[in-house]
Amino acid sequence: MSRIALTLDGPVARLTLDRPDKLNALDAAMVDELAARCREVERSQARVVILSGRGKAFCAGGDITAWSGEGPEAFGRHWIRDGHAAFDALARLRQPVIAVLDGHALGGGLELAACADLRIAEAHIKIGQPETGLGIIPGWSGTQRAVRRFGAQVVRRMALFGEVFSAEEALALGLVDRVVATGEAPAAADEAAARLLARGPRATELTKMLINAAEGEERERVIEALAGTVAAASDELAEGLAAFREKRRPDFG
Ligand code: COA
Repeated sequence: MSRIALTLDGPVARLTLDRPDKLNALDAAMVDELAARCREVERSQARVVILSGRGKAFCAGGDITAWSGEGPEAFGRHWIRDGHAAFDALARLRQPVIAVLDGHALGGGLELAACADLRIAEAHIKIGQPETGLGIIPGWSGTQRAVRRFGAQVVRRMALFGEVFSAEEALALGLVDRVVATGEAPAAADEAAARLLARGPRATELTKMLINAAEGEERERVIEALAGTVAAASDELAEGLAAFREKRRPDFG
């Protein structure tokens, strides 16, 4: 049963967490599904991604009940590592991601929102990192990507002191980019997507990669991807491949 829905709608990919009865809390199967959906998006024709959660929450975090079945080693090896793989895949999508925060984003929900390139929040929502209050750490990059993207001090306030912010406070602190009235985030996300789609597709994709690299998000891959594209576009590759096929030495001139 799919709980991360993907709709490919021309240039727009819609990724929707679909576990409303548990406030879209992410269990291990959903984390794996998120990673698989990201691969689909990456290979699609989509140029922008709209990420949302069905029901009243955006995402209430990792599935707390799932933890009780995990020993410490499995926790580190699977829960944390698989979460990183999925969230990295989302943050590193070539397409910009817009998060529709039309409900609370807590713990893993905040970490998920942090992967987006733009966060639009409805006025009633709350944002926070409750993990240490549960005796666990924010382990899906809530102390790493969240610090890079939002700054260490606001993460200290949420993660160490348990402060939970309103949408307006989150806006002032740079946790979200825009606050709209309740019910208006999906339309605001569509508007932002339309603005982005009016811009140069290739330039937008490259610019996202460069910004990510500047933030330390994926510097190594970005450098090699850009160099690889330049090398693959040169005559050298054509000659190298032809020589291999014809079983001769390449003539690079
Ligand atoms: N993991 C597993 N289940 C969760 C969950 C989570 N992180 N967050 C909510 N749920 C479940 C609840 O257990 C409840 O299930 P039930 O109906 O079978 O009892 C259902 O989702 C609805 O949640 P409920 O608490 O009844 O909704 P609410 O509107 O009263 O409260 C919250 C909303 C977000 C304040 C509250 O659910 C909450 O504090 N959740 C935990 C948030 C958290 O600590 N996240 C960090 C984990 S990394």
